[in-house]
Amino acid sequence: MDYQELINLAIKASENSYSPYSKFAVGACVLAESGNTYSGCNFENSSFGLTICAERNAVGSAIVAGERKIKAVAIYSPNSEYCFPCGACRQVLNEFKDAPEGLDVVLTGSDGIKVYKLEQLLPEGFNL
Ligand code: THU
Repeated sequence: MDYQELINLAIKASENSYSPYSKFAVGACVLAESGNTYSGCNFENSSFGLTICAERNAVGSAIVAGERKIKAVAIYSPNSEYCFPCGACRQVLNEFKDAPEGLDVVLTGSDGIKVYKLEQLLPEGFNL
């Protein structure tokens, strides 16, 4: 799948972000092994610690649909160029990475699309 298309789905997801506290909208879209895509946006809570990130929301949708391997995730925020995933989301993505190819993290900004391997962003991630 064209990564620009995956970014476009992340942009669309960010439009439904519920982020009244931080006012920092995020959208994500994961490409699963089946070829299907699953979108998520962040949604916050007045009890701030209950906030769910866009990436984890997207991963949850993939899992409930029966997916177990994720090939790529696109992340977008209208508030920041190249919106990198937080540490917790990196570890959650690590759980479902598609070995041996690894998982592509696709970001966008004024220099165009940049693709990172999850392993670059989370070296020595925790695995049982
Ligand atoms: N956020 C995400 O959705 N993904 C990340 O990887 C980092 C942070 C959200 C959580 C919160 O709603 C807002 O961005 C500001 O932290």
